Amino acid sequence: MTDTHALPVRIPTPRHYLMCPPRHFAVEYSINPWMDPSRPVDVELAMRQWTTLRDLYRELGHTVDEVPPQPGLPDMVFAANSGTVVDGRVLGSRFRAPQRAAEAEHFRRWFVEHGFRDVTMPRQINEAEGDFAWTGGLLLAGTGFRTDPGAHAEAQETLGVPVVSLHLVDERYYHLDTALFVLQPEQEAMRAQVAYYPEAFSPGSQRVLRRLFPDAVIANAADAECFGLNGVSDGRHVVLPVETESTGLAGRIAERGYEVRFVDISELRKAGGGPKCCTLEIRK
Ligand code: ARG
Repeated sequence: MTDTHALPVRIPTPRHYLMCPPRHFAVEYSINPWMDPSRPVDVELAMRQWTTLRDLYRELGHTVDEVPPQPGLPDMVFAANSGTVVDGRVLGSRFRAPQRAAEAEHFRRWFVEHGFRDVTMPRQINEAEGDFAWTGGLLLAGTGFRTDPGAHAEAQETLGVPVVSLHLVDERYYHLDTALFVLQPEQEAMRAQVAYYPEAFSPGSQRVLRRLFPDAVIANAADAECFGLNGVSDGRHVVLPVETESTGLAGRIAERGYEVRFVDISELRKAGGGPKCCTLEIRK
């Protein structure tokens, strides 16, 4: 194949992330198929892997704030589940699992203490960016395992952005952010670029995704299994789990002109999380 098309020039934009160190990380209960409480976890290794991710964001020029980790909340490292922020408006979270319920209040407090005036806590079960992905013009919203479909309407009303509901059907991909991520946000809905794993979605939702994003990067089962769709993009640099180098996803993303940066997040995967799960984006 001759490559006559020049790769698009991808311009990164500085991002603001909120993270929580896995100081109290553990797998003590099982609320998704990846979690096996009989398998030991290494907290120091989790801390090192997480620190490498945080430092990579900083090296790429992004701002990273940290929420203090709390004992007794072993999943708190997955900050993405604790807020959806668009245009400075914050919609907090409400967890499905009682074991995670108390996390929401720690994040709510962080937002209030850091000058966010418009902070709303949801009535419906809402696992925030775990199930919400902002494309720059639309909020893609997952349901099926965690976030209630009613939370989609609540998010639309609270944030004042159009919401598109997507149905997840494979319990391994229980949050939207395990099956789809935004590579390049655009205000004009259909110009945004996303990557996704079609089989994680119902047939109707697959058709919606094909319609909205005919030019998406399509992931396969191997890409999805190593949490390859749990990526974080700044419009140029795309942070992916190191395993995606051999599954092909990293190559397919690089072909679109992005610069892939690998992280090893194997310890946190024992709880069913990857780089994006650790990263809540603050959009002011
Ligand atoms: N153990 C956590 C849970 O099941 C993992 C959450 C991962 N976060 C995410 N955004 N997918 O709730």
